[in-house]
Amino acid sequence: MMKLDTKHAFLKEDIAGYQDIVTKCHEDLHNKTGKGNDYVGWVEWPNNYDKEEYARLKSVAADIREKCDVLMVCGIGGSYLGARAAVEMINGMYSDKKPEIIFFGNTFSSTYIAQVMEYIKDKEVAVNVISKSGTTTETALAFRLLKQFMEEKYGKEEAAKRIVATTDKARGTLKTIADKEVYETFVIPDDIGGRFSVITPVGLFPIAVAGIDTDAIMTGLKKAYEDLKDPDLSKNDAYAYAVSRRILENQGKDVEMLVSYETQMTMVAEWWKQLFGESEGKECKGNLPTSANFSTDLHSLGQFVQDGKKVLYETLLLIDKPTLDLNFPEDADNLDGMNYLAGKSVDWVNKMACQGTLEAHEETGGVPNLILTLDDMSAESFGYMCYFFFKACAITCYMLDINPFNQPGVEVYKKNMFRLLGKK
Ligand code: PA5
Repeated sequence: MMKLDTKHAFLKEDIAGYQDIVTKCHEDLHNKTGKGNDYVGWVEWPNNYDKEEYARLKSVAADIREKCDVLMVCGIGGSYLGARAAVEMINGMYSDKKPEIIFFGNTFSSTYIAQVMEYIKDKEVAVNVISKSGTTTETALAFRLLKQFMEEKYGKEEAAKRIVATTDKARGTLKTIADKEVYETFVIPDDIGGRFSVITPVGLFPIAVAGIDTDAIMTGLKKAYEDLKDPDLSKNDAYAYAVSRRILENQGKDVEMLVSYETQMTMVAEWWKQLFGESEGKECKGNLPTSANFSTDLHSLGQFVQDGKKVLYETLLLIDKPTLDLNFPEDADNLDGMNYLAGKSVDWVNKMACQGTLEAHEETGGVPNLILTLDDMSAESFGYMCYFFFKACAITCYMLDINPFNQPGVEVYKKNMFRLLGKK
């Protein structure tokens, strides 16, 4: 469902030459003997996720779909990016599916917060607050506003029926609030960190409320689990991708640009940037993950990619079959001179733009291109892609002797912010 092509990547080393180190990293991951081994619950998740909780999640989601215009998803980082990526990738940007999913609790922007609160004032609303720690300030600030809004709008009892908390099973501020107010609760497993949590209730609940077939996501996950459990680099494209990144870094490429040609993949790139950035960017190591959406960004960033400093490589995340397509029409006057495309499909035009750009960046620009091709933008492909990137990320970090599952650097800004905010 997701394949790697390295023919355009100018790799100066043989991927197979890394087999021994990759096999060791794979064993560390699967045997839980590597760094951060408390957080590798996602590896076996496709087989051992909590089936009872999953069934409850689908039934609560169906109930909310019945009665609400809007689901407010209140969370930040790993507690929101995966769900947003899935909803946009699978449903598209202007889906008429109800309810509308609004992502909240991921910013201190007063304008955004106030505008959203105004927008939902007269709508039927449900809330899913998601926080493992329960103390994340962006989320806690937004949730207090939402909780008061819900209680004023519906009264305490009905508000409590419309609020779902996804948090730690036993500890934390949000767990305390959820217990006191008797909210429906889903668990963030202890051994799965935020950026690996889209495949748990963190992602699956809002995704289910968005009307997406979560069973298909789990099928995709399981397929990836099966396809990627063999460390043999000639068979495991996630691991070959992990190695290619290291080879390109050895060739002086410190920036990886994830490029898509589908507008609705933009949030997938945001999710991917968190996954790789937070996992790999530590101990002064790692590639900077960045992203672009072509051909849109060929009219902005394309200049740098073609002619700028040679610091980057592109990883194309291509979609084989678009969700929708349309044929370009003939025009009798042809005043715009576009009749040469009449009868062609727009997806064909997109693919030709991609081919032309690849040639330009590779041959004239000298920019290495890794190509990942995903079958389509279905729920099943989403599940497959998540697991593919999880495994690639873990292995590429282990190759650098880095713990992929912590984020010590994120705490520094928080300390300063709390001092300035007067938090005791
Ligand atoms: O990947 C991570 O661990 C982070 O991005 C967290 O998900 C994010 O900081 C939110 O944390 P929490 O779920 O505790 O509110």
